[in-house]
This record gives sequence, structure tokens and C-alpha cells, in this order.
Amino acid sequence: MSKKSILLLPGDGIGPEIMAEARKILEWVASRGGVALHMEEGLIGGIAYDQTGHPLPEETLTQARRVDAVLLGAVGGPKWEPLPYEVRPERGLLGIRKSLDLFCNLRPAKLFPQLVEASTLKREVVEGTDIMVVRELSSGIYFGEPRGVTTLANGEKRGVNTLVYTTREIERIARSAFQVAATRQKKLCSVDKANVLEVTELWREVVTAVGKEFPDVALSHMYVDNAAMQLIRNPRQFDVIVTTNMFGDILSDEASMLTGSIGMLSSASLGEQYALYEPIHGSAPDIAGKGVANPLATILSVAMMFRHTLGLPEMADRIELAVNRVLDRGLRTPDIFQPGTQKVGTVAMGDAVLAALSESLL
Ligand code: IPM
Ligand code: MG
Repeated sequence: MSKKSILLLPGDGIGPEIMAEARKILEWVASRGGVALHMEEGLIGGIAYDQTGHPLPEETLTQARRVDAVLLGAVGGPKWEPLPYEVRPERGLLGIRKSLDLFCNLRPAKLFPQLVEASTLKREVVEGTDIMVVRELSSGIYFGEPRGVTTLANGEKRGVNTLVYTTREIERIARSAFQVAATRQKKLCSVDKANVLEVTELWREVVTAVGKEFPDVALSHMYVDNAAMQLIRNPRQFDVIVTTNMFGDILSDEASMLTGSIGMLSSASLGEQYALYEPIHGSAPDIAGKGVANPLATILSVAMMFRHTLGLPEMADRIELAVNRVLDRGLRTPDIFQPGTQKVGTVAMGDAVLAALSESLL
């Protein structure tokens, strides 16, 4: 029997609530036999700061390097906003991405047909949306130096962040994106701001050069402002989008609304050696502890984990099928609720997925 180990990092806000539901799914998979899952928990974000004085304790990185895959909930909240940047919860997340060299972030924005009315956008616009956003995750303006705020001689302050990419960094994310596109509709749109920013002109050149290795994939380029508009004008024109860290952050939140709710979007953060899975929504402090958060993005992240890292694609299919069934039955957390459906909380949603999973084996 194969043995796999998973590190769970619930984090802050709604993180622990959604993680508890994901854990049930993992435990169910383990109880079926076929794969032995070892699960351990660790600290990241605000809770890690509270307990250890650092949002990413060394112990968490040691654990993360030891396991086959990491599942992360969410980090951050108003409680930690007054802290200096170096110890903010978000730095824990950025730190683990950087330390594990997780450069490739896959964010699938796929509309479940049952949720077509849950989007704030019109049915005829969002219907059929199936986009994979490939976001560069370990470089760009999030990590570039110099950074920080200094005080000038006249007492004025000056803030600076640096957008930086090297050829090698662009090549590897481009290659990953072409590989993903090759397994889908074979269309890749690279998003940049090459008309203004030299670094993204380099991005465009390098992506184009890598494209020569993938003659079957149709490559196009789009400026980010236009891409933001095209995403909500006609999302079906997109198959795979590849872009920089910050543009990917923004465009993936925008794309999530095509699927009804940000509470539905899972993600995989992959490097050459390590893999981390997380829902793209944040810690949602406004609803934390109320039992109403949507656990489906985390459950779908577990499915991605089985597909991309744990070598059990049939288990991924099964989890996705179970989510589909629960939506078919009309169960909805408040973020995807529509009149005529049944409003349920976090735990009831997790239980319903679990029940549907069990049925799918009968
Ligand atoms: C995301 C989040 C993070 C990011 C924050 C929490 C640091 O918005 O994963 O999209 O900006 O990358
Ligand atoms: Mg974001």
C-alpha cells in the first residue's frame, strides 16, 4: 500500500473551519484503504506569530519539507494588521512559497453549471467558463529588492517595491503554462504590460521563445488592463492564462467571480520538489467562527492534491464528482446561495460531500 504524508496548516480566520472539513475528506480516503495517509498539523500566519513570535516558524518549514504535500487554509486578520510587515501573517505565506520555491500557481476558474445564477455576471457571459490561471508565485514585485519605506531628508516618506524577473524565472513558469495548455484546449494567453514595463517586455520575449518548444499550443499576448476587461466581457475566449505574481493575484480574484464565488476556487502551488495546496480566498475575518464559510474551495484543493502530487487522479475525480452531486442536490453555503436552494453551513456542506463520496463507491 502506498504511504503519503500531508501537512495541514489551518492558519487564521476561517482557516481552521474549512480545514476541519478537508480533514474529514482525507480521513475518509485513508479509511478506504489503498493509500495510507499520515497527517500532521503545523503553524503558519497570525496564530504562528501568537504562539512563536514568527508567522513562519522554522519547525513549519522542516515539516513542510518532510511531507509529500501541504494543505493550507488561510492567513491574516485585523488583529495582526498593526504588526510590522516582517512578522505579518501574510509574510508567513510568502515565506513558505519562497522557501519551498513554489513558482507555479495553478488557479482553475471553472464554473460549475449549477452555480451559473450565483455569479454577479449574466448567465450568457459566464456559461462555459473554464480557465486555468497560471500565476508566477515566487518572484516579481512581491519579492523584488529594494523594498520598503524610507524617510527623505525633507521629512517626506518614500515607498518602493521592485518588479523583477530573470530569464530563467520566466522560462520555467512559461514552460509549466505551455505544458498545462497542451493537456487542455492548447491555447495560452500570456498577460503583461509590455507597453510600459521593460521587465514585462522581457517576459513577452521569453514566453515567445519558450513557445517554439510547443508548436501545438497557440500563444497570444494581452496587456493586463485589456485582460481584466476581456475576462468579464467574454471569458470563454480564454483557456490558459500565464502571468506575473501580482497580475495573477488580481486576475484570479476577478476570474473567481465567473465561477459564482471566490469560495469555490482551489489552487495548487508547485515547485520542482514541493507542493502546497490552498483555496484562493483569504481568511475572511468577517465570517470567521460563524460556521458559514464555504469549504468547497479547500475540498477541491484536496482533489487537486490527489491529482497532481499524490498520484491518485481517480480519487480527485471522485471528490469532484461528490462536490457536483452536492450542488445538484441544491445545498449552498451563503456565498453561493440562490432562492430555491438550501442554505447550509460549513460543517453540513462538508458532511454532504462526505456522504456523496461514500455513495459514489456503491
Ligand atoms: C493570494 C492572497 C495572497 C497573495 C496574500 C494573502 C498574501 O491574496 O494567495 O492570492 O497576495 O498572494
Ligand atoms: Mg489574492
